[in-house]
Amino acid sequence: MGDFLRPAGPLVCVVGARPNYMKMAPLLRAFAARAALPGVVLVHTGQHYDLAMNERLFADLQLPPPDLNLEVGSGTHAVQTAEVMRRFEPVVDDLKPACVIVVGDVNSTLACSLVASKKGIAVAHVEAGLRSFDREMPEEINRLLTDQLADILYTTERAAAANLQREGIDASRVQFVGNVMIDSLLAHRPRALPPAQTLKRAGMDAGVVAGPSGFGVVTLHRPSNVDSPDAFGEAIAVLVDVAQRVPLVWPVHPRARANIDRFGLAASLASAPIAMLEPQGYLEMLGLMAGARLVLTDSGGIQEETTALAVPCLTMRGNTERPITVDEGTNTLVGRDRARVALCVDEILHTGGKRGRVPELWDGRTAQRIAAHLESWLAVPALARCSG
Ligand code: UD1
Repeated sequence: MGDFLRPAGPLVCVVGARPNYMKMAPLLRAFAARAALPGVVLVHTGQHYDLAMNERLFADLQLPPPDLNLEVGSGTHAVQTAEVMRRFEPVVDDLKPACVIVVGDVNSTLACSLVASKKGIAVAHVEAGLRSFDREMPEEINRLLTDQLADILYTTERAAAANLQREGIDASRVQFVGNVMIDSLLAHRPRALPPAQTLKRAGMDAGVVAGPSGFGVVTLHRPSNVDSPDAFGEAIAVLVDVAQRVPLVWPVHPRARANIDRFGLAASLASAPIAMLEPQGYLEMLGLMAGARLVLTDSGGIQEETTALAVPCLTMRGNTERPITVDEGTNTLVGRDRARVALCVDEILHTGGKRGRVPELWDGRTAQRIAAHLESWLAVPALARCSG
């Protein structure tokens, strides 16, 4: 930050899209528990806006309604990012935050970091330092740039510090604290909805999840898997193969849903035992994942959640920014390789697959560590920190 005098305003906590909410919920609770921290203003950029992608998760996670909603909606990357910046700037001018807290790697994360840092406002990035080394992923660009801008970088796994060091980020800015997403998972696990209930609520036959071979859960939404007819066709061929061995439950992301229609892929799914649902709430997803024999996904967070739940995860990507889930957890990278997926599914059905272990500091107390660190960081005058 450029200014040596820190503003006395609130902590401005930013969320924009679905995977941000489960990271922010435990942070808000931990910040509220520390009287010495400034008050919180929760800003929703409106990147996600549907009931299913949004309000249901807020309710499940017991998140308070946002204090401000910037209502940016969907758009190209440039339009969405620019619109968040344009609408976030007056918020920063008005509130003069002591610190802006951003999580994850969505467009809102980068846009708000850029606005704040150019105004000399401190930025804390939660889930810093993850790298897929694949710049075709929009999130990789968001991660690289947000980490360059952030004053404090809270990391989830030790490999992140080496990534940041290579990019010239001083180690004094990096704090290994663990994984806030797992704070949410552990806190809400007892309230997870049984899979049969989720199917029934969706008007589906609950028998799908009650068969002798159990069931698998699918999520797919990465542009690299769903934005071209060839790639999405290959991904669906993988799902249809797997569904012959174990029935699948697939809560379908709006991006994927639109492309199934656009590319005429519905027919190839029609006869397979795949229950296609609307996007589900947090408690429904938690119940589905916890009860599954396996999960097929291209999500980042689900690779971590399945590791914490000890459920085998086949990640339909060629890389992961979360290598600890492969090295220590239950994750295996399979891309859209039908033969490789078949072998992995075989192994899972016969032996139970990778069990893994829970990574260091994924213990449900990460938000408390962040709040404690932030409190002491904010207590040191900015000038002393810069010179020291
Ligand atoms: C965004 C994030 C991604 C995250 C994902 C989780 C970026 C670059 N991408 O991708 O990292 O994993 O959220 O979902 O920030 N749509 C709706 N309702 C909504 C939101 C979106 O129908 O509430 C539709 C719109 O047609 C939109 C499309 O989904 O064009 C994609 O939404 P967008 O926010 O652009 O990207 P995601 O694919 O959701």
